[in-house]
Amino acid sequence: MLTRKLMFAVMFVLVLATGSLQAGGDPARGQELSVDCADCHGIDGKGDEDNPAIAGLDEAKHLGLLKAYQSGELVDEEETMLMFTEELSEQDMADLAAYYATLEG
Ligand code: HEC
Repeated sequence: MLTRKLMFAVMFVLVLATGSLQAGGDPARGQELSVDCADCHGIDGKGDEDNPAIAGLDEAKHLGLLKAYQSGELVDEEETMLMFTEELSEQDMADLAAYYATLEG
């Protein structure tokens, strides 16, 4: 009886875990992609006086920002972010957002 309960508990956790993986991006892959962002936003994503901090940004919010830059909905003066999101796929952006969400803001 106890083992059965345990099995249900394990299954429940697994379902939760795979569910969240599908919904979000892959932080490990995001970390690989983030080398392109680190030049400006810093290795730790904390930015500097010219570049905003992006560490600890909410994943969904970050993804929304990247998509908005890519589509031209959000325009920064130098078009830097347009340039850096131009080549990214939707999956790339999701992975990046997932990675930065794991960093301390
Ligand atoms: C050449 C420098 C540079 C690079 C490289 C760069 N960014 Fe940016 N990023 C900026 C600047 C400058 C801004 C502020 C733009 C503005 O005024 O809207 C910005 C803004 C952002 C914002 C919005 C932050 C906020 O709170 O509004 C996000 C998110 C972001 N960048 C993510 C990224 C990601 C992810 C990458 C890598 C794919 C990246 N950036 C690469 C310079 C850069």
